Amino acid sequence: MSEILRRTSMCGDLRISDVNKEVTLNGWVAKQRNLGSLIFIDLRDKTGICQVVFDDNTPKELFELAAKLRTEYTVGIKGVVRERSSKNTDIPTGEVEIVANKLVLYSEAETPPIYIKDDDNVDEMLRLKYRYLDLRKTKMQRNLTFRHKVTTLTRNYFDSCGFTEVETPILISSTPEGARDYLVPSRVHKGEFYALPQSPQLFKQLLMIGGTDRYMQIAKCFRDEDLRADRQPEFTQIDLEMSFVNQDMVIEILEGYLKKLFNDLMGIQIQTPIMRMTWDEAMERYGSDKPDLRFGFELKKLNDTVKNCNFKVFTDCLANKGDVRGICVTGGSDFFSRKDIDKLTEMTRDYGAKGLVWIRFNADGVTSSVNKFFTQEELCEIGKVFDAKTGDIVFIVSDKAKVTYDSLGFLRRECAKRMGLLNDKEYKLLWVVDFPMFEESEEDGSLKAMHHPFTCPKLDQLNLLDVDPLLVRADAYDIVLNGVELGGGSVRIHDKNIQAKMFEILGLTKEQCEERFGFLIEALKYGTPPHAGLALGLDRLVMLLLGEPTIKEVIAFPKNQNAECLVSCAPSVVETVQLDELGIKVK
Ligand code: AMO
Repeated sequence: MSEILRRTSMCGDLRISDVNKEVTLNGWVAKQRNLGSLIFIDLRDKTGICQVVFDDNTPKELFELAAKLRTEYTVGIKGVVRERSSKNTDIPTGEVEIVANKLVLYSEAETPPIYIKDDDNVDEMLRLKYRYLDLRKTKMQRNLTFRHKVTTLTRNYFDSCGFTEVETPILISSTPEGARDYLVPSRVHKGEFYALPQSPQLFKQLLMIGGTDRYMQIAKCFRDEDLRADRQPEFTQIDLEMSFVNQDMVIEILEGYLKKLFNDLMGIQIQTPIMRMTWDEAMERYGSDKPDLRFGFELKKLNDTVKNCNFKVFTDCLANKGDVRGICVTGGSDFFSRKDIDKLTEMTRDYGAKGLVWIRFNADGVTSSVNKFFTQEELCEIGKVFDAKTGDIVFIVSDKAKVTYDSLGFLRRECAKRMGLLNDKEYKLLWVVDFPMFEESEEDGSLKAMHHPFTCPKLDQLNLLDVDPLLVRADAYDIVLNGVELGGGSVRIHDKNIQAKMFEILGLTKEQCEERFGFLIEALKYGTPPHAGLALGLDRLVMLLLGEPTIKEVIAFPKNQNAECLVSCAPSVVETVQLDELGIKVK
């Protein structure tokens, strides 16, 4: 067993002010260069890389051992810091090197299957399969450390505001948050299943009824849904619930938290109160309930402007109670070629748009994909709605309102992305408030809760519940950062009759209601404090603060696009005896 050297410094911390100090480092050989009479080692630990040298003055035995080192061997090194003659400005430790006087080889390594370098171009599958090697990258360790700093600050902040962290169970019965559940079969109760929590929603409400007053948890949540850059099947929430509060009080606590987080970890002062916008305004102006406010290109409704035009597509759409909406992309006419527009048109099809009309405002006149149906004056009239200038392009979609919102909401962001307007060092926060209580399910048109069924409708709109539930707005709010839904929450129903009414509107029979949520209705009977809360997506928060493109970069062992863990090969087939014990037969 080799001697373990007691570390005095981390590799990435050494600076010119450390010159002449004797230091001891432990880590991995990132690179070895043998120049005959001189050997250089780049030594790596979680903080970074520093150069170690073995030269003419190195004792022979030590020099010979250094010559044997290869990449990813683990070693301990003792030596003296000196100023480098040729400095490396690419790394923070580039002004110094360690002249080694002791070397302990802890373990050898085979050639690793991936390059361990921040700016590599390794296939993601390999990165995920050999995640333990990928994690050795300085950037990955920086991300994990930053995430840890976020959770530490979070716990401290909420502790100082009187919150108690309480763990809620993982094996539960289903809590509806809109996704499919992950199910766990019970051995004791054959044919019965636990669900993994999509969120701790019902338990945190029960904690309020239980007198906990202010709850927080860094909570693992599980949702079986289609994966995207900001979605994982298991992810983490900063989950909060408070008693005796209204929406403004929750928002105030959250703003204090975000202010501290941005100040302490990013050195950025955010302005509070953070801007608020109703859901209706967000949809009308940005075609999205999570608008990115870093750029303009706002949607405008053109129904009045085009109602008498000769273009049947628009007039038929209006006759069918559809809408005509557009966006003006400033400078877009100069930027987007015909080919680009074809591509954008194709991409908007995914959002339901059957076509995309464009109008270019060029120095030599106004041209459009629908030239033959519009006079120059009519096209200029449309331009006026957007205050279009030379060099701009207007895109128009006519369809039912939802399709115009979705496709143009996508298009404004896509254009901004292509034009390089998405600066990841700029942080635009926004509260979207007054969400609709219900939305129509795309599958069968039935009503479903837009947030979740425990959200309180606006109390002055209760009479609308029976008349036109789609008009009812809720005390629900989302916090949005740069076009990403960072978190969402609501004031909860604390009246058992309103809660029962909600379940009824959602189409649950008395029996289903009793079976699934009987315990909640029962709990609401015994003195329920008015309460409200919110959950932030921790992974998304860290991703945005670090400017990473996906949440996989801030999760130690994420799943791939097919919800597989490539390190441990989950999900996997299990032994027949295990299935027998559970009373399960795989078809
Ligand atoms: P909601 O469903 O809006 O609310 O979730 C809260 C936040 O969790 C994050 N999030 C995800 N992050 C990564 N991968 C996913 N699959 C994923 N799904 C959600 C988002 C989202 O804003 N119980 C309520 C909160 C409440 O009402 O208090 C809830 O879970 O950032």
